[in-house]
Amino acid sequence: MNKCDQLYEGKAKKVYATEDPNCVIVSYKDDATAFNGLKKGTITGKGAINNKMTNHLMKRLEANGIPTHFVEQLNDRETVVKKVSIVPLEVIIRNISAGSFAKRYGVEEGIVFAAPTIEFSYKDDDLGDPLINDSHALALGLATQAEIDLIKRYAFAVNDLLKAFMKEIGIDLVDFKLEFGKTADGTIVLADEISPDTCRLWDETTHEKLDKDRFRRDLGGAEEAYEEVMRRLMGE
Ligand code: TMP
Ligand code: ASP
Repeated sequence: MNKCDQLYEGKAKKVYATEDPNCVIVSYKDDATAFNGLKKGTITGKGAINNKMTNHLMKRLEANGIPTHFVEQLNDRETVVKKVSIVPLEVIIRNISAGSFAKRYGVEEGIVFAAPTIEFSYKDDDLGDPLINDSHALALGLATQAEIDLIKRYAFAVNDLLKAFMKEIGIDLVDFKLEFGKTADGTIVLADEISPDTCRLWDETTHEKLDKDRFRRDLGGAEEAYEEVMRRLMGE
């Protein structure tokens, strides 16, 4: 499949049309941003790692009953995915306190929750992706109640699976963000990416951060952390 016109450029990926109206090509960049684009940088090799890791995880999720947008990897950085309209809700699942949760509620990071939490952010960079609840999402017409219910069900199922995949490689899945899309026939599928950009991943024994917090918090070693997760997950 060939790249045609560029449809969109986001902070970490570009999206191209293809000759198939139902498919687009995603191209992953090494660009890294944080705090709604205020902090900018590069994590060398990130694009290829996030592309390959996302595809690996999406295939395993699909095999376990989660519908995804994945079609076919083209090369290190580029993948064919189903064309979807993204539901403008960032779905965040947390197993352990960290990041904005710890800050908002004034608790330390590292509290293991008895049950996972879910929250939505309204995906709108101009507004800074504000937290949103179901009734506000319904009022704004961002999704139907049935779609929200299905998205929640998929998100918790993804958590169970991802937590297990990470545990196998000695990593605690702290939290992560998912995005869902709607295909032309209205089917809800898991879209976007699953990578150290969108998950917090802590080594289960040392608690070392193996994710984008190394960039967000200027801890150094982001490249090595992404490579480490890739090596443990895929042996590459
Ligand atoms: P938070 O603690 O900053 O709200 O982040 C929760 C999770 O969501 C964390 O794993 C990082 C991920 N995330 C994104 O993928 N994109 C974003 O824009 C933000 C703010 C968080
Ligand atoms: N990707 C987001 C941004 O640039 C934030 C983040 O991942 O922390 O704003």
